[in-house]
Amino acid sequence: MSFKRRPIIAFDGPAGAGKSTVARRVAVELGYRYLDTGAMYRALALEALRTGVDLRDEQDVLALLKTMEIDVSGDPRVPTRVFLGGEEVTGLLRTPEVNASVSLVAEFLSVRNEMVERQREIVREGGVVIDGRDVGTVVVPGAEFKFFLTASLTARALRRQRDLARIGYQMDLAALVEDISRRDNLDSTRVHAPLRKAADAVLIDTSNQDVEAVVAEVMAHCREHVR
Ligand code: DC
Repeated sequence: MSFKRRPIIAFDGPAGAGKSTVARRVAVELGYRYLDTGAMYRALALEALRTGVDLRDEQDVLALLKTMEIDVSGDPRVPTRVFLGGEEVTGLLRTPEVNASVSLVAEFLSVRNEMVERQREIVREGGVVIDGRDVGTVVVPGAEFKFFLTASLTARALRRQRDLARIGYQMDLAALVEDISRRDNLDSTRVHAPLRKAADAVLIDTSNQDVEAVVAEVMAHCREHVR
């Protein structure tokens, strides 16, 4: 098989399925860049919270986004760093406040269109691994490889609990299960670009597999074609 540009590898799936960990590892193995599209929506939610923009007002949220220069680092060897007009906001994007607000801003079609345009520009040349909720279906439906990662609600809540503990938040598991299932529901029932598996995406359940095993499975799919 030959490709016009270097391939794009797309990962979609619900929160806590292991997308970013796996996507980054695959990017490192291949020497590709990495784009975390969720970080862009998080940056917008953060800025709306900080500036007091009404999270339910589509025009105001879009107007805010238009003023924002969102810079996401493409280096897969480290967790994504995010800069807003030069200010690093990486440490502010995974708080419970942003978690609770991000689905609201991600619901607006005009906001999504603007994000998708920016994301397409970033991945245009290929040689990139991209993850999110709509990357295989909307952002780059022509991606050479698509994966849909999923895991049980409990497995995902446990991972989120561990991630939050690392940044200093001790959260009750039951509350996380509730929060994740609420976000799953919002992400998969929203009108525009809901979370769903692309017909041609490979489904991987990560509940009982460690990162190594999932990365190996992904690499086995890609290996013969990607160089
Ligand atoms: O992957 P994440 O948890 O960082 O994503 C944060 C939120 O952004 C999540 O609620 C869904 C939304 N999102 C989206 O709607 N489309 C994407 N491509 C990526 C994330």
